[in-house]
Amino acid sequence: MTAADNDKPSINNGNPRHIAIIMDGNGRWAQKRLMPRIMGHYAGVKAVRKIVEYCAKQNIEVLSLFAFSSENWRRPQDEVSLLMELFMNTLQSEVDKLDKNNIRLKIIGDKSAFPEKLREKIATAEAQTAQNDGLTLLIAANYGGRWDITQALRQIVAGVKSGEIEEQDISEQLVNQYLVTAELPEPDLFIRSGGEERISNFLLWQLAYTEFYFTDALWPDFDQLALEKAIGSFKGRQRRFGHTGEQVIDNRVL
Ligand code: IPE
Ligand code: IPE
Ligand code: MG
Repeated sequence: MTAADNDKPSINNGNPRHIAIIMDGNGRWAQKRLMPRIMGHYAGVKAVRKIVEYCAKQNIEVLSLFAFSSENWRRPQDEVSLLMELFMNTLQSEVDKLDKNNIRLKIIGDKSAFPEKLREKIATAEAQTAQNDGLTLLIAANYGGRWDITQALRQIVAGVKSGEIEEQDISEQLVNQYLVTAELPEPDLFIRSGGEERISNFLLWQLAYTEFYFTDALWPDFDQLALEKAIGSFKGRQRRFGHTGEQVIDNRVL
């Protein structure tokens, strides 16, 4: 997406085309109930199902969910292993349903750190849903915004070295094409549950002009109503992309 593309209305019926969510608060949700943290992650998966279903019905084009950050390896080893197991089992149990609902699944992040078995499951699930043209569901796993920009840089440098890319052709648009979100619209609405107000190394480049929405709701409690509230807040905002307020009418640049 170029700066010029940003000037185009990035909305469908006033809805955001791309919603990106940091699903935070699973651990605290469980701890509040005196349960082990992993129970919060299980409950979090249920919330994911509902939100995915809702976005698919509302014709949202892209939903990006932060499931595991490149920093989450720092957690206690048993939580990390259980999260990996949950990820693998969920992938396996949900892929047919996603496919039936015309949802295209893509896992973004540094997959090289995952066990071979998980990488195979990811590749199979992506291939099974690759032709679907409904909602694109991006699951960010071992993802970091800095990693994304770094891997793009590596590819560009390799391209320059091999002569495929001319140095003078390096532009914002070109960098964009090497990010894991290439070809997709940039997020219109960013939501973080769990009360913290930070990006935690999510889509750094892509969030440049995104509208931010924070809620104290812990992720397992985040439901359709909570999402509708966030979308309602989004609809009430004027996106200016550098223009003055007077230049923008109904989210269109005059
Ligand atoms: C988000 O919930 C899920 C992951 C990071 C995997 P947390 O596990 O961070 O929940 P809190 O922030 O500890 O409550
Ligand atoms: C961000 O949540 C990552 C995910 C939701 C997957 P964290 O709970 O890991 O973020 P910090 O460490 O509190 O910023
Ligand atoms: Mg957290």
